[in-house]
Amino acid sequence: STLHSFLQALPKCEHHVHIEGTLTPEMLFSLAAKNGIELPSDDPAFASPSSLRLRYQKFTSLDDFLRYFFIGFEVLLTTSDFEVLTYEHLKNAYSQTVRHTEVFFDPQVHIARGVSYQTMLSGMNTARERAARDFPQMSVAFIPCLVRHLPASSAHDLASEILSHGHLEDATLVGFGISSTEAGRHPSLYSSVYATLRQAGVENLTAHYGEEGPSEYVAAAISDLGVKRIDHGRRAIEDPSLVRRLVDAKVMLTVCPISNVVLRGVQEIKDLPIRQFLDSGVRFSINSDDPAYFGGSLLDNYCTIQEAFDLSMPDWKVIVRNSVEGSWCSDDRKMDLM
Ligand code: ADE
Ligand code: ZN
Repeated sequence: STLHSFLQALPKCEHHVHIEGTLTPEMLFSLAAKNGIELPSDDPAFASPSSLRLRYQKFTSLDDFLRYFFIGFEVLLTTSDFEVLTYEHLKNAYSQTVRHTEVFFDPQVHIARGVSYQTMLSGMNTARERAARDFPQMSVAFIPCLVRHLPASSAHDLASEILSHGHLEDATLVGFGISSTEAGRHPSLYSSVYATLRQAGVENLTAHYGEEGPSEYVAAAISDLGVKRIDHGRRAIEDPSLVRRLVDAKVMLTVCPISNVVLRGVQEIKDLPIRQFLDSGVRFSINSDDPAYFGGSLLDNYCTIQEAFDLSMPDWKVIVRNSVEGSWCSDDRKMDLM
């Protein structure tokens, strides 16, 4: 349809895609074979890439997905593994007219299984440099994410390690986030690690909240962690005073429509508060989260929003402007993207 062509051609900014979430079942199996990694033998889903893909269509919750997501990490060992994974993702993003992308990665989990921060970052940076040559119209940045299923002390250790690696001097690392399981992980658990980051001069802070957890977590992430963005933030709509606060503070939500349906946060795309966000002036961008697990590209996420909400051209202008303004890139780059 013409709208599909319009959305394909639309210059896009993505702020919420996990590099490990771009690992397809086929890549998972081929890297496991290459690296001699044994996949779980007690789970019939790991019989073949196609049985794994079928299992991905039956996720029951965020935690059910995360069990598979973190098994996937185990096949990534070398710099080259991270390079190939990242380059494939960037090539794919470019084919969808992505012009700026900020990619999450979960260093704590890789370090915990013996893969160094340098290994992953050098692979990702090599991919970024190749992409800069091959796709010069696209800017690429990385955002390390802390994880909530490991102890808060481990988050502290990672933050110190990253700061000691010169996070602030490295222009490709544009912020800091937190992800993984949400239930029972109140933001106050992480206020001291976020305070450490802010004191070290990290200004661009975000956090996954309001995906499964209550609007109160979103409010607390702003108050206790000092975040400028919220990843997901879907449930913020349940608190009208929080909605006003998001508008006033220009907090951008990085919404992931297909992810929310696959992980059963909502029954269908129509249940997302997209119309309310637009009408009340809440800024948001549209994102794919973990496209290899949820079966939807970034463009699919744009198209499904269009089909569910029948947005107008002025609506799309607002979405595009907010996702450029909410990007963590230079003002000059934002001018290019507008
Ligand atoms: N890690 C990868 N995808 C995630 C999601 N949707 N929520 C929380 N943590 C994640
Ligand atoms: Zn996410």
